[in-house]
Amino acid sequence: MEGLRPAVLMLIAFVGDVHGRVLHAFAALLTLQRRRGVALDAVVQVGDLGAYPGPERMDAPSRRFLAEHPAEGDFFRLLDPDPALAAAVTEALKHLPPMHFVSGNHEDFEFLAAIGGGPVDPLGAVRHVPDGTVAELAGQRVAFLGRVEEPGYMDLDPDALGTLLAAPPGSADILVTHDGPHGLCTDWQGTTRGSPKLAALIDHLQPALHVSGHYHHPNGPRHYGRTVSYALSELVYPRRNRRRPEHDNPRQQVMAGAIGLYDTGTGAFELIDDDWLADVHGDHLDLATFLN
Ligand SMILES: [Fe+2]
Repeated sequence: MEGLRPAVLMLIAFVGDVHGRVLHAFAALLTLQRRRGVALDAVVQVGDLGAYPGPERMDAPSRRFLAEHPAEGDFFRLLDPDPALAAAVTEALKHLPPMHFVSGNHEDFEFLAAIGGGPVDPLGAVRHVPDGTVAELAGQRVAFLGRVEEPGYMDLDPDALGTLLAAPPGSADILVTHDGPHGLCTDWQGTTRGSPKLAALIDHLQPALHVSGHYHHPNGPRHYGRTVSYALSELVYPRRNRRRPEHDNPRQQVMAGAIGLYDTGTGAFELIDDDWLADVHGDHLDLATFLN
């Protein structure tokens, strides 16, 4: 009947902090599509992809984690893939959209500034989105603002923040940030975490959806006016967690709450918590085995 068209169903997957483990991300997204019988229209990663051009450019914490977690070096393999990996990633990209990512606080900002917006690896599997950009993805206007609110080199970019604060309310459907809004959680010492500037940005833009990362555990839904806000888990927790042994991850598997699935037609957002997440694991993940 004319005038009664169903809402267009588009699916966007959001991926939490990757910290170099890009093959875990692709394998989890391929498995999500197969197990759910869906096709993703866009993939967005919320920062801390681990975008360094080489280990020598890593910051000290990233280098420490790499020493104990070989998969944190998978980003480097993607930058210079051997023939087997190139074939697997090429095949994966026939089934998956490229992963758009915003800066976290553990990236090489000079490397990303030199790239600007666009593909970072030779196969175009990951694409950087500069801070302050509003891009159209899966029919949604998606605003991006990376980094964290912390004085120093990793602080929010004031120009990019200003650009988004100057955009009219309602001009973005989705806001993607790395840091989260002030008050979203407390740390192990009981200190309130989150960015007051990002809370103000959400208040101003009032997107339908806000998604963030950085705190490495799932959070939400939280409501800010008409905005529903979620934070994602880190994609793969470290092998050992000194303060919270219940978060130990000896198999190096993908965590519950590290991937969010958004249906643009219904507005439903789901933090994925399926049993098959445990199938995506290991220090040396073979992406080819996830292509069947
Ligand atoms: Fe992180």
